[in-house]
Amino acid sequence: MNIKVEMANSLVGILHEHLEKEEIISLLEIPKSAHLGDYAFPCFSLAKQLRKSPQAIAEEVAANLTIPLIEKVKVVNGYVNIFLKKSVVSSCILKEIIHKKENYGHHSIRRNGTLIIDFSSPNIAKPFSMGHLRSTVIGNSLALIAEKNGYKPIKINHLGDWGTQFGKLMVAYQLWGDKEKVIQNPIKELLKLYVTFHKEAENNPSLNDQGRYWFKKLEENDEEAVELWKYFREESLKEFNKVYEMLGISFDSFNGEAFYNDKIERVIHLLEKEQLLIPSDGAMVVQLDDFPPCLIKKKDGTTLYATRDLAAALYRQETYKFEKALYVVGNEQMLHFKQIFSVLAKMGYDWQTGMAHIPFGMMLKDGKKMSTRKGKVVLLEEVLKEAIELALQNIEEKNPRLTTKEEVAKQVGTGAVIFHDLKHFRLSDIEFSLHDMLRFEGETGPYVQYTHARACSLLRKGKMQKMDEQLLADESSWNVIKTLESFPESVKRAMDNYDPSEIAKYVIELSKAFNKYYASTRILKEDDHKQQRLTLVYAVTIVLKEGLRLLGIAAPQEM
Ligand code: ARG
Repeated sequence: MNIKVEMANSLVGILHEHLEKEEIISLLEIPKSAHLGDYAFPCFSLAKQLRKSPQAIAEEVAANLTIPLIEKVKVVNGYVNIFLKKSVVSSCILKEIIHKKENYGHHSIRRNGTLIIDFSSPNIAKPFSMGHLRSTVIGNSLALIAEKNGYKPIKINHLGDWGTQFGKLMVAYQLWGDKEKVIQNPIKELLKLYVTFHKEAENNPSLNDQGRYWFKKLEENDEEAVELWKYFREESLKEFNKVYEMLGISFDSFNGEAFYNDKIERVIHLLEKEQLLIPSDGAMVVQLDDFPPCLIKKKDGTTLYATRDLAAALYRQETYKFEKALYVVGNEQMLHFKQIFSVLAKMGYDWQTGMAHIPFGMMLKDGKKMSTRKGKVVLLEEVLKEAIELALQNIEEKNPRLTTKEEVAKQVGTGAVIFHDLKHFRLSDIEFSLHDMLRFEGETGPYVQYTHARACSLLRKGKMQKMDEQLLADESSWNVIKTLESFPESVKRAMDNYDPSEIAKYVIELSKAFNKYYASTRILKEDDHKQQRLTLVYAVTIVLKEGLRLLGIAAPQEM
């Protein structure tokens, strides 16, 4: 049941000549203060059309409004203030949650439209950066949210495993590489070699030519080059998988840029056929109307990031027949994606309208970008380990007798990092602070997890026997109920705006409402209403756990 929709249904019965149901839903407000009612319907926008004062319209509406959920209506300053029958509404909502369990809030109106989500996509032979962490957690959550909204998500890790930089790395490895050291610590050593290469190339530009030469060899399948490339790729994947394992994230495909190497010719062919490929300075480009030209082939005949993205788009449409394709990539690549989508449009592919770039802001440390350049790296694996370590210390202090400490510390540590990222609207830059993330109070992952664990403990202690959805109509339980009721709407908004922070904010709100209830009510008191209170607690555990799941965060029963 959706209360807003129910109310809109009756309002539309009265106002159908003037407003659509959707308009009514968007007009319905929640009054700032509860004594003004549970919902308010403003009549100002109708005044002109009806040539009556808002107050008069509100009075008419109020006189005709009847639904079983409404206890009373009051007309105040052009608003129809609506007071709901708390006990009827509560029991409807609780029944629904307890019946649907984790499927509560699921929108199944869609018929499994396939949604491709391209996310994480780190570059091999480089450490996993903070930017890639952001893409990883945002993308993973969006995939879960899409599924909850009835889509069929396909998670693709478009590894950066192709490009001139690997030619350069090969040159550096051959010139200065120490095999032993690289085997010991591949990512760190390869990064060092890459940094050395750039330093040396400043004085010796011919190194760049050598790099290009080796990349060309790689594109031409030269055995030695391919061998080295494979080695770099495998070692990198081992490192990346450690991070994915810690975060509990998996992919449907690791087809990275290299995968499209043999699919590029066809793209070039198609572009030629459409007469879109224009020579420019020895290179080949596609001219675009609203953006700078998209470079397809370089002077030396090697291809580019953009070319591979075009090939990937074609391949994905043919393979998966996607309805939507999302690219979760930092906002510095805005132009790149605009160019890709425009080229596809020029090629005449209508399906490109289902593609979208989902940009996000930077992770800052002390107000500055956390960068991997010049060897200044923050190793993500280390960050996660530290978060887990700190979480373990917290648990030791708070609950030394917990038997599953290690596992819970992992869930809380990683949950803290993920939540800190997802609670901000994705386009904002965020400041990285382990200390802030791990607090048990305030708007943190551990706070929500702790609230969930507290509710679970009440259920254990209180021994819930039978569901009893009849509810006391007191203010703080009503507040919990209303928050529970708004979960499906949050789920939908998170999808419409591709914004996991909707869900993060939602679980914070529910935690706050529940903790207020907990503080004002003796939940376990032995009286006639104990089972009703426990039923409410049970509903809260279901929705908190499901909300956390949509963010990619576990909800331990105890912590
Ligand atoms: N590897 C790229 C980077 O780190 C991100 C790839 C994003 N996906 C794509 N299809 N272009 O910048």
